[in-house]
Amino acid sequence: MTETVKIDLYADNLGVTQAIATQLAQLVTTGTIILLEGNLGSGKTTFMQAFGLALGIQTTITSPTFTLIDEYTEGRLPLYHIDLYRLEPSQVPSLHIEEYWRGKDFPLGVVAIEWASKLIHLPPHYLQINLATPLPFDSSSKRNQVLEQDLDFDDDLLEALPEERTIQIIAKGEAAIEIIQNLKTSKN
Ligand SMILES: Nc1ncnc2c1ncn2[C@@H]1O[C@H](COP(=O)(O)OP(=O)(O)OP(=O)(O)O)[C@@H](O)[C@H]1O
Ligand SMILES: [Mg+2]
Repeated sequence: MTETVKIDLYADNLGVTQAIATQLAQLVTTGTIILLEGNLGSGKTTFMQAFGLALGIQTTITSPTFTLIDEYTEGRLPLYHIDLYRLEPSQVPSLHIEEYWRGKDFPLGVVAIEWASKLIHLPPHYLQINLATPLPFDSSSKRNQVLEQDLDFDDDLLEALPEERTIQIIAKGEAAIEIIQNLKTSKN
């Protein structure tokens, strides 16, 4: 059984999430697979935007919710950005995303998968990034203030949503563990 290593990071604002993504982009190697998990709006695409920039991708990374797979080849490594949100788990195998880490039909690069919880079979090695907003009903939270004041749910709530995120990273496989250890070292 391959060992897994886990680190728990905390971002108290958007810039911290972006800084973590930037740092990770400097550490990834050909064949790195990133599994992004977290609710709608937790920051998966935002994370990948900062990651892509740091990889040297000039094109603005957008959510591949409808395209399912976007390929970016202008950075230090090719980036294959996948979003499984619209698929049922049973539909995922027909995408053959393993081709992206097999290294035969596509140049090996980084594969990043949003809504990776839809994968029935996890890849043999990966960095799993779990983004979450801290508990929303803390009496001091801005969200709670919005609810108490009965403000318009959409715009006002979005404006008032806290920027705090917990960012848990789980590494499986030797190369992924090495990446996470370097990330950890530079965080200390
Ligand atoms: N600390 C933070 N980290 C990440 N995003 C943040 C943070 N604070 C605020 N945000 C905002 O939260 C939103 C996250 O949206 P994003 O599209 O990245 O989420 P997502 O997880 O990809 O959602 P979806 O499941 O719909 O694809 C953005 O508007 C971003 O600016
Ligand atoms: Mg997204």
